[in-house]
Amino acid sequence: MIKKCLFPAAGYGTRFLPATKATPKEMLPVLTKPLIQYGVEEAVEAGINTMAIVTGRGKRAIEDHFDISYELEHQIKDTSKEHLLNEIRTLISQCTFSYTRQTQMKGLGHAILTGETLIGDEPFAVILADDLCTNNSLNDTNGVLLQMLKIYNTYQCSIVAIEEVPLEQTNKYGVIAGEPINNSENLYRVSNMVEKPEPKDAPSNLAIIGRYILTPDIFDILRDTKPGKGGEIQITDALLEQAKQGKVIAYKFNGRRFDCGSVEGFVEATNYFFQKESSK
Ligand code: G1P
Repeated sequence: MIKKCLFPAAGYGTRFLPATKATPKEMLPVLTKPLIQYGVEEAVEAGINTMAIVTGRGKRAIEDHFDISYELEHQIKDTSKEHLLNEIRTLISQCTFSYTRQTQMKGLGHAILTGETLIGDEPFAVILADDLCTNNSLNDTNGVLLQMLKIYNTYQCSIVAIEEVPLEQTNKYGVIAGEPINNSENLYRVSNMVEKPEPKDAPSNLAIIGRYILTPDIFDILRDTKPGKGGEIQITDALLEQAKQGKVIAYKFNGRRFDCGSVEGFVEATNYFFQKESSK
């Protein structure tokens, strides 16, 4: 059973300056909801209720968002605006949130290792909130994390979500190489993974997106992982150690993902969700 979801949320969000100067990038809204709330909703849909958030300086708005604001509640009680808080109120009542701070920015792998104190010795999910995922297929209503949990239940090893990207973009992602499992079109046993390779060095065009299920031995591996690409401790490098033992599966998910860490992806997500809401 996966009970906890880790949200690395300590990054500076420099691509969104000046908006992210005093506001965490995870709090940027797509329509009226901050990015991290979409992530928490995806975790809840997957049956996960314990949210573990790795924050840093200047991120207190995240804690306030997942808390009751008595003054605000009082102000809008019995007015026409009260319903606007219903969704977040329900979410808060369904989950627990705990926080720890990453005091130095040493990469995604280091952020995940910082979360060990909140996770302990059990398998867990990871959501990078700036990868906003939605299921756009009418036949399959499961979110990406729920799809991944089903695969975890069968294979009981680490799982990464992947999508095909244009070859010239491999240097923005962790990229995998793998063998299809039982001739499947969407499941691969990972044999190699490289963090942000140039196209000529990329083992494929299958890019990791911000959804992981990790087994807890990843923490010991991360402790021994040397800084890699960009001088940072990379989760991709730690996962490669598991992959060498055949213990990582890559899953080409059903649905659509928006790179809300980029202005272009953010605008696409906004348009997509606006269309979706308008057609309700
Ligand atoms: C991180 C990971 C990368 C992964 C990406 C998904 O990179 O290091 O392997 O492909 O998330 O969004 P970042 O985008 O934080 O630089």
